[in-house]
Amino acid sequence: MMNKQPGEAPAAVHAHGLTVRRGTGRTPRTVIDDIAFDVPRGRITGLLGPSGCGKSTLLRAIVGTQAHVTGTLDVLGRPAGHPDLRSRIGYVTQAPSVYDDLTVRQNLDYFAAILDPGRTAAARRAEAVDRALTDVDLTGRAGALAGNLSGGQRSRVSLAVALLGTPELLVLDEPTVGLDPVLRRDLWNLFHDLTATRGATILVSSHVMDEAERCHDLLLMRDGRILAQDTPDALRTRTHSATVEEGFLRLVDRANTLAAQEQPR
Ligand SMILES: Nc1ncnc2c1ncn2[C@@H]1O[C@H](COP(=O)(O)OP(=O)(O)O)[C@@H](O)[C@H]1O
Ligand SMILES: [Mg+2]
Repeated sequence: MMNKQPGEAPAAVHAHGLTVRRGTGRTPRTVIDDIAFDVPRGRITGLLGPSGCGKSTLLRAIVGTQAHVTGTLDVLGRPAGHPDLRSRIGYVTQAPSVYDDLTVRQNLDYFAAILDPGRTAAARRAEAVDRALTDVDLTGRAGALAGNLSGGQRSRVSLAVALLGTPELLVLDEPTVGLDPVLRRDLWNLFHDLTATRGATILVSSHVMDEAERCHDLLLMRDGRILAQDTPDALRTRTHSATVEEGFLRLVDRANTLAAQEQPR
């Protein structure tokens, strides 16, 4: 399932025997169950699966904010959570944190200062802010209060924050939820630009299967397990399906059949 081609560049993320438990007290649950996968560099990998399957937990493990992670999890050649990775990864959480009472530019100035406290000259920080604003096409709204923005514009502010340090790896947790189709398309175009022009690696989660078609590679997840790692084309071909969604459902049916056969009587 997780075939690695010989001579391939080292993966941006490499996981093996990865398990995550969540919940406190006497009943911690295994939320990620002994998974293995690779996220190739310079490409867009979609992490797809229904709500509750463990996408956010996995992304948190990758960016190093998740407790009770066991197994191998290497990110950009370092163990996940290594301090050196902090400036090399941009992370947008599922509930983006933007300060409504600050303008777009003030939000970015604030996060730029946190990212690099006192080390970079103010002029350099301002440059980084300008570039991030341009990246997400919000230069014209830089002076607007974040609280007055549309949902799509707010998402783009969060994305701009993640882009401030020109990260090698962008981890985006359901960035297109609640966006209208035009904004969703614009955001996907931006993701493609970032990989094509900067060589950035993007790992983006979604529970909307039609977004899978826009990714270079897919990680299909269900119940804390990886059902498949494939390109959209290969997945459709392999499952004799017209769409990734149909292919995903076929794999789910197959997994259920196998599980039923393995049930002790
Ligand atoms: N803070 C938490 N404590 C215990 N269990 C949690 C916590 N957050 C999420 N979970 C559980 O972990 C599982 C995976 O959740 P999550 O990673 O958020 O899935 P997804 O992002 O795919 O919707 C779910 O069953 C959820 O109930
Ligand atoms: Mg989630």
